[in-house]
Amino acid sequence: MKICVLNCSPKNELSLTLQTVLYLQKWYQEKLDEDRFDIIPAFSGMVTDKIEEAVRKSDLIIMSGAVFHFDVHSSMGELLDMLTDNYYDLIKDKPVTFLSTSGMLGDTLAHNRFEIWAKRNDLKYINSLSLESSEILSPKGREELFCWFKYAKAMAEYYKERHIPKAKKQGRVVLLDTCENETFRISSAIKTAKQRFEDSGFETEIITLRDNNIRHCTGCQCCFSNRTCIFKDDWEKTFEKMYLDTDMIVYFGELHYGSLGNCYKTFLERHACLGRSGIEDEVIKSYFFILDEKSDREDIAAFKVNCETFDGLNCSYLSDVCEIGNNEKMQELYDKMTIAYNSDIMPQNGFLKNGIRNGFAKVAAGVKNRCPGDYSYFKKIGCYDTIPASPHVQWLDNAEDARRDREARLIPYKMTLLHLEGIPAITERRKNKGISVIKRQKAAARGLDLTKPELS
Ligand SMILES: Cc1cc2nc3c(=O)[nH]c(=O)nc-3n(C[C@H](O)[C@H](O)[C@H](O)COP(=O)(O)O)c2cc1C
Repeated sequence: MKICVLNCSPKNELSLTLQTVLYLQKWYQEKLDEDRFDIIPAFSGMVTDKIEEAVRKSDLIIMSGAVFHFDVHSSMGELLDMLTDNYYDLIKDKPVTFLSTSGMLGDTLAHNRFEIWAKRNDLKYINSLSLESSEILSPKGREELFCWFKYAKAMAEYYKERHIPKAKKQGRVVLLDTCENETFRISSAIKTAKQRFEDSGFETEIITLRDNNIRHCTGCQCCFSNRTCIFKDDWEKTFEKMYLDTDMIVYFGELHYGSLGNCYKTFLERHACLGRSGIEDEVIKSYFFILDEKSDREDIAAFKVNCETFDGLNCSYLSDVCEIGNNEKMQELYDKMTIAYNSDIMPQNGFLKNGIRNGFAKVAAGVKNRCPGDYSYFKKIGCYDTIPASPHVQWLDNAEDARRDREARLIPYKMTLLHLEGIPAITERRKNKGISVIKRQKAAARGLDLTKPELS
């Protein structure tokens, strides 16, 4: 496969994102000798001859860039516009994706802009990835990067052939009908989805929320201490069916003023008895899949933003929004999910959605000095025996110091590159697979940890 990376970072050679790209290049070019992997400087915001030539030859375009002021860097914004305004024929059939490193203070806007740019221009959009800049320094972060890259490559291949992807191992998909009343369009979309996932080799289950007796949360807070709701209705059964051993969830529903319907909201509110952290990392990935005739474009746009909130609550990992009606797009979405599943995309390290989406909780927890350099990791592998550790972020008062500081920051990344041995190990995607979240949380309230093997 011919991969073309457009390096849109204003720091050029001193870019952290470029280091991330170099990891990928090393794995795939040097170690596996598998791909042609060109890295093209693209900071000027112009489509140079070099860019034009590399893009023309490529099977997959990766924009690599930094997040500045929540959005893509201005030069990358210019480049995107120029590509679609003046070079549309060049890129219209090319799968495109975006890789960024950021301080994770808010990179959603950047990835949203990229997604909207790609989708509005009817390009072959592949879900992008944002890594917290120091994450590539840890094996976990590299694992995430690797799985995303596997996914991006597999998607580029899929766009060529459009074959139904077969699931690598048997998984379980839940198709969740969140509508308050039965609607023909949604029921038939669910049937098609069921067929498509089964053709790929998945076990599927349809859950129709309205058929379950789920009472409204009254906010009594009894569950706060013992994690047990006072209501004995169908919530627990429905929750278990939805999450236990489920690999993917597809939500079907109508929009209610830019949000999902009341049936779903009622169900969701009852998750309170698990505590916010209760279902973290339990669901691998889910797609929001909507819509009905009543919804207008504004609602859809708002819903995409609101999905962030649903993500936070549901901890979904790889989400997308699709309008019911366009059969081809719907099937593409199911296939994308299967490819993501096959690529071992993991929930542990972050969120990969229509961009990233690091849940707010993780963002809050992760706000730290921007350049800690994962000191202990590098200390362990001996980097600092010969090279002094990069100093933590300091106030610098001149440009020369700033340049030296940027160079120093790159040292751990460069050392990591030297120490790379093959492809990272892939860990189990779900840490607590097979363990009921409800039982786990109830046990936790009694001081027990069901995730320890001897107790489960
Ligand atoms: C002026 C400026 C603005 C930034 N704004 C954001 C931001 O809004 N959100 C974020 O997550 N990171 C932000 N960052 C952090 C960068 O995205 C991060 O350092 C990234 O790794 C730089 O990538 P590069 O080295 O490839 O250019 C900002 C950095 C700078 C210098």
